[in-house]
Amino acid sequence: MKRGEKAVLVLIGAVLLVGVVQSRLHVEEKHDRDIPFYSTAAPDVARMAMDVYRSNGCKSCHTLWTMQDMLQSVPAPMLDGIGSLRNETWLYEYLSSPNPQLVLPSRLKKEYQMPSYAALPEGERHLLAQYLASLKVKDWYFEQAKKAEYEKLTGVEYKK
Ligand code: HEC
Repeated sequence: MKRGEKAVLVLIGAVLLVGVVQSRLHVEEKHDRDIPFYSTAAPDVARMAMDVYRSNGCKSCHTLWTMQDMLQSVPAPMLDGIGSLRNETWLYEYLSSPNPQLVLPSRLKKEYQMPSYAALPEGERHLLAQYLASLKVKDWYFEQAKKAEYEKLTGVEYKK
């Protein structure tokens, strides 16, 4: 990946993250009660993927569908909406990498970093990648997060 591309991804990641915090404060009236995250996966894919997700301890570090372990203290990225950021191929390769930190550099302590799931059966890696890629964030929410981030950084009103 080129430097510029990486910077863009990091920026989008930051925007998503800020968006989550901001949503609690800045959500437009009409979306007040809307949940901005959804999945396009078929119910059986979702169910099977969530079984793999649970049995591999993903939720001891990540939040998904607001589920996380009570004792979770790892600053791992939230996976809701991740499919708006990453596609299935990327996710599959990331989960299959013997060293995920070569794909996505980490500043965390080794024990908090994303472990390699290269040893997971290929079918399970595919299923996870397929499901994660189906996790989307709604456009209005993405736009709002961008707007909020832009205005916070520049102090200027954001125009599309
Ligand atoms: C030990 C904690 C831990 C566990 C367990 C874990 N992760 Fe991660 N994961 C992380 C961290 C931390 C990152 C951010 C990259 C890093 O620091 O290595 C990450 C990154 C990711 C990303 C990339 C997010 C992005 O912004 O692109 C995906 C996707 C992901 N993990 C999925 C999973 C799945 C699926 C599982 C279970 C099969 C899992 N993780 C298990 C800690 C964990």
